[in-house]
Order: sequence, then C-alpha cells, then structure tokens
Amino acid sequence: MDHKLSTLFLRLAVVFILLGVCLGYWMGMTHNFTLSPVHAHTNLLGWVSMFLYGLFYRAVPGAAAGVLPKAHAALAILGLPIMMIGLTIQLLAVPSLMGLVPPMMIAGPTLVVLGMFVFAVIVFRATGGRQAVAA
Ligand code: HEM
Repeated sequence: MDHKLSTLFLRLAVVFILLGVCLGYWMGMTHNFTLSPVHAHTNLLGWVSMFLYGLFYRAVPGAAAGVLPKAHAALAILGLPIMMIGLTIQLLAVPSLMGLVPPMMIAGPTLVVLGMFVFAVIVFRATGGRQAVAA
C-alpha cells in the first residue's frame, strides 16, 4: 500500500511542531509574546491538523488515491507557510515588508480553508455508504 501522502503529512507535522515549540520556548525565555498567534497556528494547523491528516490517510489508505488528496496536500502545505510568514511580518510590523501582508494574508488563509473543504469532501467520500473504505 502506498503511504506517500500519509508519510508526507506525518513528517511535515513533526517539522512544524519543532518550529512551533522552539518559538514557544523562545517566547517564554524572552517574555516576548508578540508572535503567540504564529506559535498557536503553527502548532494547531501544522502539528495537530497535519498529523491528523497523516493518521487519516494511514488508517484509510484508499482515501489517498486520486486528484482530491493531492489538491488537499498542495493547498494545506502551501497555505500554512504563506499564512505564517505573512502573520509574522504583520505582527513584527517590518516596515519594508508590510506590502506583502495583504496578499499573503489573503492567499495563505484562503488556501488553508480551501484545503479543509477538500479534506471534508475526502473524509465524507471515504466514510460514506458503499464507498466507505475499511481501515
Ligand atoms: C514546549 C512546548 C511549548 C511551549 C514552550 C509553549 C509556550 C507558549 C507560550 C510562552 C505562550 C504565550 C503565553 C502567553 O501569552 O502568556 C503560548 C501560547 C499558546 N500556545 Fe504554546 N507552547 C508549547 C506548545 C504548544 C502546543 C503543542 C500547542 C498546541 C498544539 C500550543 C498552543 C498554544 C496556544 C493556542 C497559545 C495561545 C496563543 C495566543 O493567545 O495567541 N502550544 N505557548
């Protein structure tokens, strides 16, 4: 059975948790909480969501076949870094980069939300009626 998509999500999830906890550790050490929303979203959309995607595709391998799961991966994996970089620039108010904030904060969250909708379709299809794939 091909676990490529599952493996990709599981591995990315642990990369995001490493980034997220290092940022949290730095915030705690310095008492600088400016980037708390970046920490929270990296951990929740990166670590928690991506690990769950990986576990789902591992438990229901049939759900990883076809175009939709590839679209889901592309949307989720592109969207989060764009959103997190945009949010970081916004929170740090980097003057020379502020022009990037509107496009990034539209594109990133839009990709992430679209990815969630695609994932919802994938879960409904994989768990519904005659097409349900046994784990
Ligand atoms: C060693 C691991 C972690 C460290 C050192 C850490 C550290 C921190 C710190 C210092 C804050 C700011 C607290 C404040 O504003 O007073 C924070 C907030 C937060 N953390 Fe973590 N954290 C860790 C892991 C996690 C994980 C695994 C998650 C979620 C899966 C998480 C989710 C959040 C959320 C939702 C907030 C609130 C953000 C906000 O109010 O904007 N953290 N964390």
